[in-house]
Amino acid sequence: MALFNRANLNSLFLLSHYYYKFATVTVRLKTRERTLLSSTMMQEKIRKSSEKKTESSNVKSNTFETAIANRRDQACRSILVQVYSLNSQDDLQNYCAQFGNILSMHHYKKDKQHNHILVEFKNIVSVNEIISSASFMDGDLITPVKSSVFWFRKGQLRHKKNNQKKIILSTENGCTYPTEKDILKFLQNAKSVSGQIIKLYEILKLSDLETRLRFHTAHHLEQYFSRLFQNTKVLPFGSSLNGFGRKRCDLDLVLVSDNIEEVNIYTYIKNKSASRLVFHTKPMKLSERHETKEFMRILASVMQHFISGVHNVRKILEARVPIIKFHYEYTNIECDLTTTNMTAVYMSELLYLYGEIDWRVRPLVTVIRKWAKSQEITSDVPGQWITNFSLSLLVLFYLQQKDILPSLKLLKTYATHDDMRCTETGIDCTFLRDLEKLPAEFKYKSNQDNLESLLYGFFEYISTFDFHTQGMCIREGVPVRKPSRSALHITNPLETTLNVCKNVNIYELNRITEKAHDAVYMLETTDKSRNSNWGLMALLNMKENDIMDMVDGNKRKEQSISDYSEDYSHEISEVNEVDINQPKKKKTDII
Ligand code: UTP
Ligand code: MG
Repeated sequence: MALFNRANLNSLFLLSHYYYKFATVTVRLKTRERTLLSSTMMQEKIRKSSEKKTESSNVKSNTFETAIANRRDQACRSILVQVYSLNSQDDLQNYCAQFGNILSMHHYKKDKQHNHILVEFKNIVSVNEIISSASFMDGDLITPVKSSVFWFRKGQLRHKKNNQKKIILSTENGCTYPTEKDILKFLQNAKSVSGQIIKLYEILKLSDLETRLRFHTAHHLEQYFSRLFQNTKVLPFGSSLNGFGRKRCDLDLVLVSDNIEEVNIYTYIKNKSASRLVFHTKPMKLSERHETKEFMRILASVMQHFISGVHNVRKILEARVPIIKFHYEYTNIECDLTTTNMTAVYMSELLYLYGEIDWRVRPLVTVIRKWAKSQEITSDVPGQWITNFSLSLLVLFYLQQKDILPSLKLLKTYATHDDMRCTETGIDCTFLRDLEKLPAEFKYKSNQDNLESLLYGFFEYISTFDFHTQGMCIREGVPVRKPSRSALHITNPLETTLNVCKNVNIYELNRITEKAHDAVYMLETTDKSRNSNWGLMALLNMKENDIMDMVDGNKRKEQSISDYSEDYSHEISEVNEVDINQPKKKKTDII
């Protein structure tokens, strides 16, 4: 009890400190209903603004910004409900249909016991009504924020009749991860190495449900943060969005304020109120590093103590970009949250764009990331080895040399007024977004190499590249004289004074080139007619017997994890940069 009281006192202290330190909304006169209404209006505005922008600038509906706006809108119109079992679907549909038209229902199992259904409504008004009518669990002492994540409890009352037809589940038991054995089977059935690469990409890429759940996760956090800060939003970025993500990859999130003078759909339409009364507020200067760190420290505490579904919060505040790492329970995703890091979001947009320019880009990046993991060139923990992000840039650079992708300089040359973007720190992120405006040679390419020869060519290129004197520059699209003493230099395309591979040491670089050399040999000698372990199976070290051992090993490992899975620490750990860079856990147990 004493512990409980102390937790409550701590929580109250945190909240009051929080409000004192950062609240820009100290005079909150709005009622909850008004807040809900304004959030509805805000979402409407985003949608209208995006539609208007799409019409006025004739931007194709598949641009990154439009895709994000649509996914964010979808997340606002959806609720996540934990149900007893899949059999609850009809009951849940009947109940939810009272609040409005349902567009889709997706089911997934987080583990053997936890069933969830993501219900998408046609209108956000339905979600707001559901939130208004839902109740808290008996015994909830600290009134938490009302969000769109629920339990579905046993009903006593009959629901009002509704005329909506039964919704067929769009996904049943989604979010399952293919085992290495599944992957092996797919690869065995392919007819060529190019076919294997396409299959691998199809199996590993994020499904529609997984993308929905990533936007739902961002939306859920945003619901909490927006009760504390006016005009903030949480945007997903990184591989979950740029098309290079694989199932179960971490979710990168950024908390941004829309006080930045930007004209694009990430920002809500500014409320140019005619009122002569303006709030007194305490401004945050998140551009100042020490304020960002302090802000994130407090944010981490709030997340750990108040946001449902958030567990195992770790702060890494000494990194170049301070981050909060946490586990989001409902969707079973590991997340990294940063603040005001719009350059990283625009970087994701650039990578997305390169993936859109040619259909071969994403399958090729996928297979090279998978190869790098199988060779322990990359790892889930940071250190002195290459990251997936840098590896993706390496592939893009190679494709520029093959005249498949244009340089960033060219994308900048063709940029229009609508493409102008500048971050809060003054980084120019302007580049062409409408691919229809690309010059013909990049729409109809002379290079029609298949995936197999591109993969082979990639390994050959990096095993012979002069890393000693040359660096790679996506912006120029050509090798450049190495401007630094780092072992590996890949210029950050948007911040050209930075090297994205500064962390990579000479030992790791040599391993990359050696492994690439081995891969060339492997692809030259692997022959489908003479070897059952051909093509990617050889390249990725996948042998049937090993896989069977691994599956058993996995089962044992899963068992031991599930034994402890509910035992989340309530302590927030602080990790400094030195700690996370320790090469203590390079080896990955399981591929
Ligand atoms: P990540 O390291 O998480 O990379 O950085 P990723 O592409 O998401 O790959 P995985 O799947 O997690 O391994 C997230 C994003 O941050 C930006 C890029 O947009 C990247 O996709 N970023 C990262 C930079 O802008 N610069 C960097 O040096 C690193
Ligand atoms: Mg990531």
